[in-house]
Amino acid sequence: MRAGAEKFSFAVITMSDKGARGEREDTSGAFLQQLLIEEGYRLQGYVIVPDDKDKIVAAALDCIDNRKIDLIVTTGGTGVAPTDVTPEAMQEVIEKDIPGMAEAMRAASLLKTPHAVLSRARAGIRGKSLILNLPGSKKAAQENIQVLLAALPHALDKIQGGTSDCGGS
Ligand code: MTE
Repeated sequence: MRAGAEKFSFAVITMSDKGARGEREDTSGAFLQQLLIEEGYRLQGYVIVPDDKDKIVAAALDCIDNRKIDLIVTTGGTGVAPTDVTPEAMQEVIEKDIPGMAEAMRAASLLKTPHAVLSRARAGIRGKSLILNLPGSKKAAQENIQVLLAALPHALDKIQGGTSDCGGS
């Protein structure tokens, strides 16, 4: 359990053509749900969408604008393949970027694989929600989100107008 996490809800959106057709088990989506529940967040949504920009935008806006879920974690579609369109969808979702979060994930990942530079993942804010893009494999998603876990409760608190001290921890 992570102090402060229990105040916030989360959803996982998996981008996968095969997953959406039921042809591939969504191991990264399942892993992220379990991890964030163990951290103390409340699971409020989970959906698999194909690598289709409009469907990704619709899924994210449903979680944020309609359902007011605090933390949206996406997995997949951040790379450089022709089908990878998660960052393009984020263009219509994210209102304020948090470059430090995305760059911290890439920097830490680069110590593990040179392919880390291929992630075009973004992190940002829409309304009072935080949205984080992660790569699609379970291993990559795990290595990336690990970098942010300690900062997430404070980030969510601040995004929602919390006035707690930023002081150090
Ligand atoms: N980051 C970490 N930590 N570990 C990885 O194995 N894989 C990379 C990169 N980031 C990887 C990683 C690879 S191979 C790709 S193509 C990009 O993430 C984008 O992945 P995605 O298209 O599945 O979103």
